Amino acid sequence: MYRMLGDITGHLKKITPSGDKPVNMWCHTCHHGRPRPMTLDEELAEQYRTKGLKAALDDYTDLKKKFYGRAAYDFGEGSLNTFGYQLMEGKDAAGAVQIFKLNTELFPE
Ligand code: HEC
Repeated sequence: MYRMLGDITGHLKKITPSGDKPVNMWCHTCHHGRPRPMTLDEELAEQYRTKGLKAALDDYTDLKKKFYGRAAYDFGEGSLNTFGYQLMEGKDAAGAVQIFKLNTELFPE
């Protein structure tokens, strides 16, 4: 990770910054307190794949409690939508409906 961060910083130094100074890259730029910095839909899909839909839904509740407001996961409408479409493509229509229903409860507009 330290070598990777050094490589990224090296590449960033070669780019002309769009602002008046370069943006720094830190461990927490990716991690935000997460050991494996996955997107929310990736995290839910992994839970679903290894433990099933209930585990994915429980994981969503736990992660939201722990990380909401920390900019670690995107709790906006898009993440559950992406996850729902993944279930639909995986032929789990009932699971997809459950996820889309939850999304419309959370984002009624
Ligand atoms: C560019 C994004 C990025 C940055 C910056 C970054 N990491 Fe990571 N880190 C990752 C990703 C992605 C993984 C997951 C790799 C995997 O298991 O697939 C990871 C995994 C890890 C793990 C293993 C966690 C586990 O339980 O499997 C540790 C420890 C870690 N990073 C520490 C650090 C430290 C310390 C820094 C700062 C020097 C850092 N990382 C910076 C993206 C990043």
